[in-house]
Amino acid sequence: MDGLAGRVAVVTGGAEGIGRGIALTLAAEGVRVAIADIDLRTAELAVGELRDAGVEALAVRVDVSDPAAMRAFAERVERDLGPVSVLCNNAGVMLDGTLVESTPEDWQWVLSVNLMGIVHGVSAFVPRMRERGEPAHIVNTCSMAGLAPRLAGGLGIYSASKAAAVAYSEMLRAELAPSGIGVTTLCPSTVNTRIWSASRNRPTEFGEGRPVPVPERISAALEPEQIGPLVVRAILEDRAYLYTGADMRSRIEERTARVLADIEHE
Ligand SMILES: NC(=O)c1ccc[n+]([C@@H]2O[C@H](COP(=O)([O-])OP(=O)(O)OC[C@H]3O[C@@H](n4cnc5c(N)ncnc54)[C@H](O)[C@@H]3O)[C@@H](O)[C@H]2O)c1
Repeated sequence: MDGLAGRVAVVTGGAEGIGRGIALTLAAEGVRVAIADIDLRTAELAVGELRDAGVEALAVRVDVSDPAAMRAFAERVERDLGPVSVLCNNAGVMLDGTLVESTPEDWQWVLSVNLMGIVHGVSAFVPRMRERGEPAHIVNTCSMAGLAPRLAGGLGIYSASKAAAVAYSEMLRAELAPSGIGVTTLCPSTVNTRIWSASRNRPTEFGEGRPVPVPERISAALEPEQIGPLVVRAILEDRAYLYTGADMRSRIEERTARVLADIEHE
């Protein structure tokens, strides 16, 4: 994509954390930004910061797991801000616990946000992008947990949801290439956000949430504001993958070696 100034972007889960950081960097590039978040009060604070940066911005309360809400959001954004050419499907949640003891509601909640939230974002916005035939870009926030899950700890459901999001994003990139729409699979390693207390956003119909213990090395993690500039570069360069963090290569190599070991035994 040639330049971002004057374009319109959507960031789901943009009220805080990585999404807020992406939104602020886009605004600094002169992009008008619409935030969709389940937490409207915090999203409005972020929109205040975007307006202070000199761009038009909009916050709407949207649960990304609701396809009708995402379609209505797309309608509203394009009416109020103009045609969307950058879509950042970023909203995500995490929970702690073993796979064996997990409940169907645990799975429904995490998959409905981490996987179906991306699916609904694409279904709501991409037909509009395709119809216009102009350059566009999608960034799906997945995770290193989806490519090279840490085998210790209780992030089984989260890792499964992110592995699905990675596969979805890779397939989407191939599917949309002929339309001139790029897709970046964003795989952050640990970032210092409130994802560990994501159960604050767990709807009551899914039962009690379980906060995740904050990782011991959180002080060595990136700050969310460091991710936005990397995302902007990935959009401009149409990068297929974006990894953030120092341990990327070793994690992927270790996972690949584990996968290949059994091929070598055949
Ligand atoms: N923090 C990390 O270490 C890390 C690492 C890899 C990937 N990620 C991913 O980055 C993304 C952003 O997470 P973060 O770390 O900034 O966490 P965060 O909790 O700071 O931000 C998540 C945002 O998503 C919103 N949200 C939650 N459920 C929603 C829903 N159903 N509909 C709309 N909005 C919803 C929250 O209100 C919040 O604003 C997530 O997809 C997460 O899985 C985070």
